[in-house]
Amino acid sequence: MHNVHGEIRRWLEPLGACVRVDAVGNLRAVYPASDAPASTVMIGSHLDTVPNAGAFDGVLGVVLAVACLEALGGERLPYAIEVAGFSEEEGVRFGVPFIGSRALVGRVDQGLLSLQDARGISVREAIQDFGLDPQELGQARLRPETCAYLEFHLEQGPVLEKLGLPLAAVEAIAGQSRYELTFLGRSNHAGTTPMDLRFDALAAAAEWILLVERLAKSTAGLVATVGSIEAQPGATNVIAGEARLSLDVRHGDDAARKSAVDSLVQQAREVGERRGLSVRAAQRLDQSAVPMDAFLTAQLEETLRQTGCPPRRMVSGAGHDAMILAEKVPSAMIFLRTPGGISHHPAESVAIDDVAKAIEAGLHLLHQIAPTLRSRTCRA
Ligand code: HGY
Ligand code: MN
Ligand code: MN
Repeated sequence: MHNVHGEIRRWLEPLGACVRVDAVGNLRAVYPASDAPASTVMIGSHLDTVPNAGAFDGVLGVVLAVACLEALGGERLPYAIEVAGFSEEEGVRFGVPFIGSRALVGRVDQGLLSLQDARGISVREAIQDFGLDPQELGQARLRPETCAYLEFHLEQGPVLEKLGLPLAAVEAIAGQSRYELTFLGRSNHAGTTPMDLRFDALAAAAEWILLVERLAKSTAGLVATVGSIEAQPGATNVIAGEARLSLDVRHGDDAARKSAVDSLVQQAREVGERRGLSVRAAQRLDQSAVPMDAFLTAQLEETLRQTGCPPRRMVSGAGHDAMILAEKVPSAMIFLRTPGGISHHPAESVAIDDVAKAIEAGLHLLHQIAPTLRSRTCRA
């Protein structure tokens, strides 16, 4: 991440942006307004990835922010532009996503700082290891004059490709629940323990994973995923005494998502009871669905029209930092078509013409909203 920050800094400083890394490892760069005082528009996305990721999820949004500044060709607008490259959006290391962007809205507390990774390193220690000071988290907050947040991002799904569209405006981001479930049975010898005398945590987990899939397949608009499983002690000739699983549940409607989560946790307990095991369910995230700002999304649709893209709105199944920033500032997202609908995979890609179109639309939008922002004062 130090190298990434260095590379982006080398792109931004020649454009006249003042670059820093804030106390939670976000890259923050301010491109000044034509005159002060002025409001600020933030354009950003995340710089971290999932394991075995593609090369565009997150970082494409930061590169496009830089490309928009470059395309201004030295022109100053009646508002400042702050580019943000967020850390820890995916939540892979500590099990909780959006740590970087949460610092901007004041949602990083001692509990979050104390969360530990698989090696027992806390968020607090990871920040210190990166050379930053968790005591300075307050200076990561959004600049009070920030009036809007824009995020470019891959759609990460098949919709735009199917419609033959390069870009779309995101009207809402689906809510998501993340849990860690643990089935607790009893390890025993794989060769000497009769099948009816076992308390096999891995077999119980397998039965439950199929129930997760069955509920999601039978519930409109619901997706549910067990993405990781860890069996202990993890030896071929030992019955697993413990199985720890992740659960990711998403839906555009919060009530439907919560009811699905309650039902899946209940079904885990029932599987455990039938097999004489106990079950632990720990909530890691309960993120509500978030609508994007109506004014900015309408402006974005107008921009798409003006730049020759049929305006299209869609809901995002993926979570994004925009859903965190939206708590404090009007936020909008521009999706780019994802060839093959593949993401969170090395085959993830983007079409260069769509990138060019996104820069054209971004530039158009920055000029289109200028009159509104010239007059608007705001307090993030
Ligand atoms: O998991 C997600 O929704 C996103 O990729 N952070
Ligand atoms: Mn992602
Ligand atoms: Mn992403």
